[in-house]
Amino acid sequence: MRIVFIGPPGSGKGTQCRRLSSHLAIPHLSTGEMLRWKRDNTVDGPMVAGFIDGGNLAPDQFVMNMVSFRISDPDCGSGYLLDGFPRTVVQAELFDEHLAGRETQLDHVFQLIASDEELVSRMVKRSELEGRTDDTPETIANRLSVYRARTRPVLDHYAGRGLVRPIDAMQSADTMFEQLQAIIES
Ligand code: AP5
Ligand code: MG
Repeated sequence: MRIVFIGPPGSGKGTQCRRLSSHLAIPHLSTGEMLRWKRDNTVDGPMVAGFIDGGNLAPDQFVMNMVSFRISDPDCGSGYLLDGFPRTVVQAELFDEHLAGRETQLDHVFQLIASDEELVSRMVKRSELEGRTDDTPETIANRLSVYRARTRPVLDHYAGRGLVRPIDAMQSADTMFEQLQAIIES
C-alpha cells in the first residue's frame, strides 16, 4: 500500500500517518521530519534551515533524492505512507519517474481539508507544547500561502488518475482515522 498525504500545515498529516503506520505496519515517511533531522545533524544543516525555518520549501531534487534513498530501504518493500511529499508539481513528476522505473504505483492520495482558522489555532496550540521553529505567526502565514501556491496544484496532477480522496480534516482525529481505514479496506 503506497499512500500520499497532501494537506496544509496543521491538517493532521502526521497524526493520521502515525496511527495508520502502526495499524498497517508500514513506515511513516515525513519529509518535514527528515529535513528537521538533516537541519540538526548534518553538514547540510544551515542550507536546510534557510528553507524550512522560514516555511519555504527545500529544493525539489534534494527532497526527491532523500525520499528515493529512504523508500529503497527493505522496510518500504510492502508500502509506505508519505506525509508531505510530493509538495510541488515538479516533485510529483520526479516521483512518477521513480515509481515507473520500479514498476510500482500509488494506491491513494488523501487530501486533508480544513479552514485556515482551524489550522492556525492548532499550530498556535502546538507551538506551546513542541516549540517547532516554524510555528510562529509569520511563518505559519507563509506556510499556508506556500501550500496554496505550490502544493495545491499537485492535487490536479493526481486528480486525472482518479487517485485523490478528499477527507474533512475538521472532524476529530478518531473520525478521520475511521474514514481513512474504510477507504483503505474498501
Ligand atoms: P512538515 O513537517 O510536513 O510540516 P507541515 O506540512 O507544515 O505540516 P505540520 O507538520 O505542521 O502539520 P500536520 O499536517 O502534520 O498536522 P499534525 O498531525 O502535526 O514540513 C515542514 C517544512 O519542511 C515545510 O514547511 C518545508 O519547509 C519543508 N518540507 C517538508 N516537506 C517538503 C517537501 N516535500 N519539499 C520541500 N520542502 C519540504 O497536527 C497539527 C496539530 O493539530 C497537532 O498538535 C495535532 O495534535 C492537532 N490535530 C491533528 N488532527 C487533529 C484533529 N482532527 N482535530 C484537532 N486537532 C488535531
Ligand atoms: Mg507534520
